[in-house]
Amino acid sequence: MNARLQEEMAAELGRLEREGLSLRIRTLDSEQGPVCTVDGKHVVNLAANNYLGIIGRKDVKEAAKRAIDEFGVGSGAVKTIMGNTRLIVEAEEKLARFKGSDAVLMFQSGLMANSGTIPALVHEGDLIFSDELNHASIIDGCRLSKASIVPYKHCDPKDLEEKLVERREESGLKLVVTDGVFSMDGDIAPLPALVEVARRHDAATMVDDAHGEGVLGDHGRGIVNHFRLEGEIDVEVGTMSKAFGVVGGYVAGSRTLIEYLKNKARTILFSSTATPADVGAILRVIDVLSESDELVRKLWDNTAYFKAQMRSHGFNTWRSETPITPIIVGDNKLAKELSMRLFDRGVFAQSLGFPTVPRDLARIRCMLCAMHTREQLDFAATMFREAAVELGILRG
Ligand SMILES: Cc1ncc(COP(=O)(O)O)c(C=O)c1O
Repeated sequence: MNARLQEEMAAELGRLEREGLSLRIRTLDSEQGPVCTVDGKHVVNLAANNYLGIIGRKDVKEAAKRAIDEFGVGSGAVKTIMGNTRLIVEAEEKLARFKGSDAVLMFQSGLMANSGTIPALVHEGDLIFSDELNHASIIDGCRLSKASIVPYKHCDPKDLEEKLVERREESGLKLVVTDGVFSMDGDIAPLPALVEVARRHDAATMVDDAHGEGVLGDHGRGIVNHFRLEGEIDVEVGTMSKAFGVVGGYVAGSRTLIEYLKNKARTILFSSTATPADVGAILRVIDVLSESDELVRKLWDNTAYFKAQMRSHGFNTWRSETPITPIIVGDNKLAKELSMRLFDRGVFAQSLGFPTVPRDLARIRCMLCAMHTREQLDFAATMFREAAVELGILRG
């Protein structure tokens, strides 16, 4: 083993530990749900992106099992070599109808969709205008592209316009990219205004709907439906790893875009396709959402209820407009300690610190689920209050 490499890694781990930034990955001993067993402890789960409780649904699990029985457990190779399973072809068509777009291409995850699509579309000499709080997978895609990256102020169409005006003489292709729902703050991008500005400056648009999927829009169709912008956005990225309860990603857009990405996105060309179990489950989830909006409504009811509880206790839920509910603590170590004391009390909610969020805005991020009961949410809010008073975050 290389001694220098080992020493450098150990030194960095020591720094993360001292600054309260080191990560601990817990072990799940049960199916994920509104309550689950983590590190041997039964807890109310406020950590998962399982917005609709799909992970534990019997009909979805059965659809995944049927897919395994028919197609096996793996995909065998990249799609340009081995082809797609019939399930993927069906899922792409069904998802396109659900999203109201011309065509869809499935990727293996949201990260693979972003990091494969952006470098396929823009290159050296082109310009990407990127919200300063965009997700890491968008940032990685932007960096891989070698285009110039121009950050604009968070959710600020005016600042975007100023940046576009400053760079108007440059001849490269211009792409405006934004998260739909911001994963750390839970606020929603002002998509209609961003699209209007982009159009005025002949820039293409791309939105990442990871946290809008199953949450925003009619029956959870996502942010584009929420703002009635079907056909107005050039590239829509999504993930199946949150409300859809499995692992997978996709891009929706014009048939030309999809055909182009099949030929050009390196994460399509050089990484194997989604597994039959995931795709079988996705097909069933689209049906579940299309048939009824009950789960989406329950999610929003729970969100309103929990936020009101937390605010009445005196917590700061920041600028959240969605089920992503940050509880601002400020200091990294304090946020970590709060998360640990909550866990001891039977509530699982992760702390997030720098560099994931700004240095003085460490927080606990609470993720609501349609399947939480009022009793579970009351219990969580009470435990939050008790632990925060103990740590001097709230007055007793
Ligand atoms: C906004 C956003 N985009 C993309 C991703 C990546 O999705 P996946 O887990 O499917 O790779 C995430 C997940 O954290 C996300 O929050």
